[in-house]
Amino acid sequence: MSNLRSGDRIHLVSRKDRRYTVVLKAGGVFRFSGEMLAHDDLIGQPESITVRTSRGTPFVALKPTLAEYVLKMPRGAQVIYPKDLSLILMWADIYPGAKVLEAGIGSGALTMALLRSVGEKGSVISYEVREDFAKRAQENINQFLGPASNLVVRMKNIYEGIEDRPVDRLVLDLPEPWLVVPHAVPALRPGGIFLCLLPTVPQVQQVVAALRAEKSFGFIETFETLLRTWNIDGRSVRPDHRMVAHSAFLIVARRIVPDEER
Ligand SMILES: C[S@@+](CC[C@H](N)C(=O)[O-])C[C@H]1O[C@@H](n2cnc3c(N)ncnc32)[C@H](O)[C@@H]1O
Repeated sequence: MSNLRSGDRIHLVSRKDRRYTVVLKAGGVFRFSGEMLAHDDLIGQPESITVRTSRGTPFVALKPTLAEYVLKMPRGAQVIYPKDLSLILMWADIYPGAKVLEAGIGSGALTMALLRSVGEKGSVISYEVREDFAKRAQENINQFLGPASNLVVRMKNIYEGIEDRPVDRLVLDLPEPWLVVPHAVPALRPGGIFLCLLPTVPQVQQVVAALRAEKSFGFIETFETLLRTWNIDGRSVRPDHRMVAHSAFLIVARRIVPDEER
């Protein structure tokens, strides 16, 4: 059983599914519309317990999943949505033991998903140009995963080159990934995977053109995903009225040994 401890970042979830982030601390108090809840009422209790404020308002105490955490954690840069994070892991084929290079680290959402998938035998190297983002991301990662000895953060502009090579996978979330394509050829091992995500069509065109211009990339795919949640309530069984209609396009390519006849 996983009991709640001082230092845990938890979500208190109201009956209306509102989530309040609380970092538990002995003697601490959660205040809600004039009501109070002592952290000591939570510390030592099992996760998912229902607790009540001084006026009896119930909250369920849960440690957030990674998908919940990335949407509520302090942000430097815009994070990748969980629906895209899950696709990236499968389409970039992130496996235990893989050596993955990513850029930039942003708020650390993708980095955490990568670290969990490569496991202790794998590694993640992250290039970032902004010190403040790198610091914020590492604090977020440390808060959720604890110390990650298999993460290397380099203050480096990836458009200028990739010093770490060979890598198994290259995952990019930055504005001009086509500038990375020439550096990706010597950095990715043959059979390795290049994946980037981009919000707009002109960016997609530019990166696909850059990949096609290199004879060392093949099997180029571009796609997006729409996730539509449903309302299931009595006879009202229908799609929800609101959804995130567009987040990003994903582009995946395989590093191949060039064949003159292709
Ligand atoms: C959209 S954010 C990445 C968000 C991150 N994937 C996440 O899930 O939290 C883009 C990041 O790329 C960084 N960046 C932009 N250009 C870069 C470059 N040339 N080299 C390295 N990092 C770069 C930015 O500073 C920013 O932190």
